[in-house]
Amino acid sequence: MRDFAARLIAWQQIHGRHDLPWQNTHDPYAIWVSEIMLQQTQVSAVIPYYTRFMASFPDIAALAAAHEDAVLEHWSGLGYYSRARNLHAAAQYIIAQHEGRFPQQIEQIEALPGIGRSTAAAIACFAFGQRHAILDGNVKRVLARVFGIAGWPGQTVVEKRMWALAESLLPQEASITAYTQGIMDLGATLCTRSQPRCAACPFADACVAHVEQRISELPSPKPRKTIPEKRTVMLLLLSGDEILLEKRPPTGIWGGLWSLPEADETANLPELARQRFGCAKAELAPALPPFSHTFSHFRLEITPQPVWVEKTGMAEQGDRAWLAIEDALGAALPAPVRKLLKKLAAEKPLKFAGKQV
Ligand code: ADE
Repeated sequence: MRDFAARLIAWQQIHGRHDLPWQNTHDPYAIWVSEIMLQQTQVSAVIPYYTRFMASFPDIAALAAAHEDAVLEHWSGLGYYSRARNLHAAAQYIIAQHEGRFPQQIEQIEALPGIGRSTAAAIACFAFGQRHAILDGNVKRVLARVFGIAGWPGQTVVEKRMWALAESLLPQEASITAYTQGIMDLGATLCTRSQPRCAACPFADACVAHVEQRISELPSPKPRKTIPEKRTVMLLLLSGDEILLEKRPPTGIWGGLWSLPEADETANLPELARQRFGCAKAELAPALPPFSHTFSHFRLEITPQPVWVEKTGMAEQGDRAWLAIEDALGAALPAPVRKLLKKLAAEKPLKFAGKQV
């Protein structure tokens, strides 16, 4: 197709998005924050977070000077917290290495923590009008369908082919912003994963997937691999209407997030509650139904175990906090912990084994 860019730009001007909070600015910081939040997250979910984040951290200097916990709190509920940690680290790096100014060279942008090739290209395009190809999940789906590219797009050979194609489709520099926004918008609003609106698509007549009725096959799914399963018990240590959260160590799974204490399935829990947490009394309620959470390399089966405790005599520590469940939801929590606490908050008053708060 020789007029891919022209068709896309014409579509974007009429049907694309023009007034998102991070559009109509060339401030690289504002654009950077938006692009990081928009990774793996939809526009509608991002907007309130973006507004709050920019009000609290209006520029690179403000973000660099903030405490990491404050940054993570603004991310609470968005998930994928390494994005927030990288954003914070990158702001400090820009202060130290680029005299506080966001770099303009694509290589320097891509060298910042948390910024890959596609995100660097999007920032360079929207902030500085530079002509670079983007290739995020939405764009991969559009290209796989329109050009009939089979194979899982995460596979190196397929991805290489897509980068080359994405580069070859770019318009002149003068139209790069409309083009880049257009391919994002087409992927997000028309060429959706399920039930794409092909009738409204500017490429319907030429799209391989549409013409050959292969929409459900393209892009090809990730090959399934079997992953090991691990089990854990998450302790809901309850005292009055408060629950105990622990801050996890800075590295490893859920690094730096507030989570529930965990125990091995075989542990003697009342004993553990007394020894590890110094609870005066500990009484088990029946365990809640287990549920699982899938990481890239293993599945974790989680059994939530409520334990009524008396917290008298417990030492206060910086990495442990007793919080009302509603307040706990304001912390940076791992996704399954958030899910669990939301459920508990909705079920209030808590009733376990005849006791209630
Ligand atoms: N997804 C990623 N970047 C985006 C942007 N700038 N506008 C809309 N959706 C996006």
